[in-house]
Amino acid sequence: MMTDPKDDKFAEASGRDEAGDPIPAAPPASATPVATPPSPAPAEVAHKDAPVAKEAGNAGRPDRTGKRAAPILRVEDLRVAFDIRPRGAWPWTPSKKLHAVGGISFDLAPGESLGVVGESGSGKSTLARAIVGTIPSTGGRIEFEGQDLASMSERQRRVHRKDVQMVFQDPLAALNPRMTVGDIIAEPLVTHEPKTPRKEVRRRVAELMERVGLLPNLVSRYPHEFSGGQCQRIGIARALILRPKLLICDEPVSALDVSVQAQVVNLLKELQRDMGLAMIFIAHDLSVVKHVSDRIVVMYLGRVMEVAKSKPLVTNPEHPYTQALIASVPIPDPVLERARKRPVLGGELPSPMSPPSGCVFRTRCPKAHPDCADGLPPMLDLGDGHRVACPYHEEPSVLDAARQMAG
Ligand SMILES: Nc1ncnc2c1ncn2[C@@H]1O[C@H](COP(=O)(O)OP(=O)(O)OP(=O)(O)O)[C@@H](O)[C@H]1O
Ligand code: SF4
Ligand SMILES: [Mg+2]
Repeated sequence: MMTDPKDDKFAEASGRDEAGDPIPAAPPASATPVATPPSPAPAEVAHKDAPVAKEAGNAGRPDRTGKRAAPILRVEDLRVAFDIRPRGAWPWTPSKKLHAVGGISFDLAPGESLGVVGESGSGKSTLARAIVGTIPSTGGRIEFEGQDLASMSERQRRVHRKDVQMVFQDPLAALNPRMTVGDIIAEPLVTHEPKTPRKEVRRRVAELMERVGLLPNLVSRYPHEFSGGQCQRIGIARALILRPKLLICDEPVSALDVSVQAQVVNLLKELQRDMGLAMIFIAHDLSVVKHVSDRIVVMYLGRVMEVAKSKPLVTNPEHPYTQALIASVPIPDPVLERARKRPVLGGELPSPMSPPSGCVFRTRCPKAHPDCADGLPPMLDLGDGHRVACPYHEEPSVLDAARQMAG
C-alpha cells in the first residue's frame, strides 16, 4: 500500500508549541560575544536520442495582472566543486575534485516558496551556501534581483547578506549559549544597522518574538532554557529581523520531534505568506517539503532530476528518482509500514568524486536503459513549468510497480 499524497500530517497542527514546557531557571553567569550563526565536471552532452531540451528555469508566479514577476533569484548552470586531497598525500599530489553541485538551473519569483528535496549528499546545503554567498561557485551564475553575485561590489555584498537569510538545521547549535534570546535575535540588526535606536531594536525584537510564537517576556532567558522547537523559533526570528527578501531554510525541522515539526513548518508557511517572502525550503523528506512549497526541485548527486509545481510533482511524478522517493515515504501506521515491501531505491548514492557517466541516477534506476550511460539526459519541458531529466519518463511508473508489489 502506498501513502496517499493527500495524507497530511502537517495540515492540522498550528499555533504555539511547547507552551507548557517547564523552563529551567538559572541563566548562565556571563555573556560573551556571539559567533553567528570533481574528476572534471561531467560534460553537458545531451542524450543521443533525446528530443530537443529546454533547460531554462520556470518563470515566476503571475502577479495580480496575470503577468509573471521577474525572478528575485536566478540560478544558471551553477557548479560548485571542492578540492579534496587524500589523507596522507604528498603536498605535490594533485587534489581531486568533488562535484557537490554539477550544473543546476532554476529561478524563484518574489514571494514564491521553492522546495529542494534529495537524499543526504545530493548537494542541497552546498546550493544554499552558494546562494547566500558563503562559498564560491566554480561555474555558472547566480543572479539576485538581476545582479550577478560573482561581480557584486563590497557594498552590494553587504546588502545581499541582509536580503538573504538562513535558518539552520540544529537550532540549539546555531544559537550562542552565552547570549540572551533578545540579544541573539537583535544581533544581525545591531551589526548591519548599528545606528538603529535601542528602543527600536527592543520593539522589533518583541514584535518578532510574538510573531514566531514566543512570549516577549522571555527576552532575557538563555537558549538552554528553551526546547528544540522554541530554539528554532528564536532562529527564525533572528533570520527575519533584517526583513530579508529571501529566506533559505536548510532542513529546519529535521532535528525536531515529529510532534513539533508540523508547528514549525506551519509557522514558516504563515510567515512566508504574510511577509511576502521568497523562500527556499530544503529537506530530504518530500512529505515535509510539499506542505510549504509552491514548486519543488528534486536533486540527485548535484543535479536537478525534476522540477514541478508541488501538487503535480507529488501526485504525478515523472522521474524514476522522484517516484522512488515518494514510494519510500513512510506510512504513518506502523503495522502497515512493517508489512510494506520496499521495492525501490536500493544501493548507495555514488561518490560525487566519480559520478556515473550519462544519467547520474542510472546505477540505481529501476528503468535504466543501456544508452542512459551515453550522455546527460536532456531536461524535457512537459509544460506548466514541469521539467524532467529523463527521456524514458513515459514508461510505466516505478510507483505503479510499488503499488502492485504492495497488493
Ligand atoms: N566543505 C566541503 N568540503 C568538501 N566536501 C564537501 C564540503 N561540503 C560538502 N561537501 C560534499 O559535497 C557533497 C554534497 O554535500 P551537501 O552537504 O551539500 O549535501 P546535502 O544534500 O545538504 O546533504 P544532507 O542532507 O546530509 O545535509 C557531499 O558529498 C559532501 O561530502
Ligand atoms: S531511465 Fe533512469 S537512468 Fe535512464 S535517463 Fe531515465 S532516470 Fe536516468
Ligand atoms: Mg545539507
